[in-house]
Amino acid sequence: MELLKEKIRQEGIALSGQVLKVDSFINHQLDTELMLEVGKEFASRLGNGEKVTKVLTIESSGIAAAMTTAIALGAVPVIFARKRKSITMNDDYYVAPVYSFTKQEKSEVTVAKRFLSSEDNVVIIDDFLAHGAAASGLVSIVEQAGAKVAGIGIIIEKAFQNGGHKLRESGYPICSLVRIKSLEAGKVEFIED
Ligand code: G4P
Repeated sequence: MELLKEKIRQEGIALSGQVLKVDSFINHQLDTELMLEVGKEFASRLGNGEKVTKVLTIESSGIAAAMTTAIALGAVPVIFARKRKSITMNDDYYVAPVYSFTKQEKSEVTVAKRFLSSEDNVVIIDDFLAHGAAASGLVSIVEQAGAKVAGIGIIIEKAFQNGGHKLRESGYPICSLVRIKSLEAGKVEFIED
């Protein structure tokens, strides 16, 4: 997505060869126009041919893009999975373990069972794909509900980490709006499509 690449070139900051800081338009301040375009792009590129009934993301930075995607898909509901350090097992929630490599901590993502059922056809959205832990946790929650994964939309995939590879092995349709080859020497290099 050229608009997004341009924004990253202008405002993204490559930190330490591993982390891309995009807090001026995704992670802290939001570029609302860009988010609207991101939503339209996901809505046009993702799906399994059936009506999407819900968009699922994880708090907090996935919510904006999930919202614009859901609107572009016909104003379907958005669910954001909640992150907890650890909750006592509770029958009312789907729970998936997620390990954050960035924060080096284990947590659980949870979604209340009443919001997701086997009738649902779900698009999953997240801001970054690094090691794939968050996206895999969301896939697990959809599968626990017996629902379908219609597709997975990622705003920025760091292709030099292994999440994309792992997720593509799952066989679900994946759409990364930009794929980053390298952040070495403070320079952002994209994989050109
Ligand atoms: P993974 O889910 O793909 O395995 O990624 P990882 O554990 O490495 O990422 C943990 C958190 O760090 C996630 O946010 C993820 O979006 C974010 N992250 C990963 N790589 C980058 C990066 O290069 N730049 C930025 N800005 N963030 C990155 P989170 O902790 O869930 O936070 P938030 O959604 O509340 O913002």
